[in-house]
Amino acid sequence: MSNPNEDLLKTIISHAKEYGYVFPSSEVYDGLSAVYDYGQLGSELKNNIRQYWWKAMVQLNENIVGIDAAIFMHPTTWKASGHVDAFNDPLIDNKDSKKRYRADVLVEEHIEKIRVKINKEVEKAAKRFGESFDEKMYCETNPRVQEYQKQIDEINARFKKDLEENNLTDLKTLIEELGIVCPISGSRNWTDVRQFNLMFSTEMGSVAEDSNKIYLRPETAQGIFVNFLNVYKTGRMKIPFGIAQTGKAFRNEIVARQFIFRMREFEQMEMQFFVRPSTEMQWYEKWKNARYQWHLSLGISEKKYRFHDHIKLAHYANAACDIEFAFPMGFKELEGIHSRTDFDLKSHEQYSGKNLKYFDPEINESYVPYVIETSIGLDRMFLAVLSSSYKEEKLADGTERVVLQLPPFLAPVKVAVLPLMKKDGLPEKAEEIMQQLKFDFNLQYDEKDSIGKRYRRQDAIGTPYCITIDHQTLQDNTVTLRERDTMQQERISAKELTGILNKKTSLSEALKKL
Ligand code: GAP
Repeated sequence: MSNPNEDLLKTIISHAKEYGYVFPSSEVYDGLSAVYDYGQLGSELKNNIRQYWWKAMVQLNENIVGIDAAIFMHPTTWKASGHVDAFNDPLIDNKDSKKRYRADVLVEEHIEKIRVKINKEVEKAAKRFGESFDEKMYCETNPRVQEYQKQIDEINARFKKDLEENNLTDLKTLIEELGIVCPISGSRNWTDVRQFNLMFSTEMGSVAEDSNKIYLRPETAQGIFVNFLNVYKTGRMKIPFGIAQTGKAFRNEIVARQFIFRMREFEQMEMQFFVRPSTEMQWYEKWKNARYQWHLSLGISEKKYRFHDHIKLAHYANAACDIEFAFPMGFKELEGIHSRTDFDLKSHEQYSGKNLKYFDPEINESYVPYVIETSIGLDRMFLAVLSSSYKEEKLADGTERVVLQLPPFLAPVKVAVLPLMKKDGLPEKAEEIMQQLKFDFNLQYDEKDSIGKRYRRQDAIGTPYCITIDHQTLQDNTVTLRERDTMQQERISAKELTGILNKKTSLSEALKKL
């Protein structure tokens, strides 16, 4: 039997391709594994998400500024950041299927299966007890739930120890003892676990003798750290302050699948917030909350989000969590919020020999600031928005439609202009309205097929509003404005269009509600 979640992901992939959102990269050559291109609508949606993030972070916060650092960086950067030595994934192969997996992901997926069992017990009990059900008390006292929780805790403890001590032999034993099988071959015939560095490298320089091995950045954050001093001095910044940037990052992912969720070339939107040492935990909580509110402001159901605290902290962190999202393939990491201590700046001080301290005039002291980082993948956010807006609806008249219920301020096309007929001066009137609106909104003009078919086409690409021009428009300059989600139509004066549409679709209106 097919898995409904996999079916939904497949549906979204094919919808994204059919309507010009996302294409496999270099598809004429059969594509390149885990690399994707954004099409005519996808690039608009991506730009809008990026802009919404940028404005929420940089424009709305007086103490945050943005930069755009280069992808290529001095190779010592990656030694100092720890990526040369520690940016590894533990990988394991199944000898029968020849498929390669991340050993840590296999264990995490096993834990998730036990969690699903707990959730099922809770759901059953909630139905049985009705209104009087106390979930917390039930979980603390039910023997079956307790047993599952004990299993999770024991696996987590051992798993964390293995990863911290780089004990790959025990990690393999753990996988074997848990009875984890390869989803393809169904066998437990595993190789040893090995570490694999995820950075892509290339050569800089024209001749082999003076060429230098450099890396494609695996995170944008280091571009911020190495510019800390420049920005702090030239921007006359006062702690606490943040530096934000968006841009490409590259990772040679071992398990690269699930569409744009895990890619080898992707885009990050990161912000490093520099604070006085020992105040970092309060800022960590503040940014966890601020980022969560940003997500909720998109109008996506709160149920689709959850926090997940990291068990294994990265080499630079003293606290970290993920905001996870209910993607079609289950709850997965969408954004990370990390308390990165003073690790990065201190390390760059050591490797560069430069003083990267901040002089704090309020306490008359110099120190290396601590850092709270918020880091979100733009492509993952794109998938979150796309997958949660895809709906197949049965309408009252028995027909069906596919509609992308994108937040209007993110939709690639804001308004479609549709003359009812291709004659009687209606296209000319439509052209006049296009001229009026095109400076403020991304528009699409369509005069082909029946009006019903044209509405369906706009629903499928997520256009929030359609304007129809009919014979009455020629007499009194009114048009019908159709709303995508309700399909309601109202007759309004064409003169009012800019004001009304601006209120309903502009980014600034959405930002005001944040
Ligand atoms: N600077 C911290 C950092 O890079 P991370 O958790 O490795 O932390 C941050 O990455 C975010 O980048 C993730 O939450 C995810 O949204 C995105 N991301 C990471 N690897 C990705 C990949 N291979 N494809 C798409 N997005 C990815």
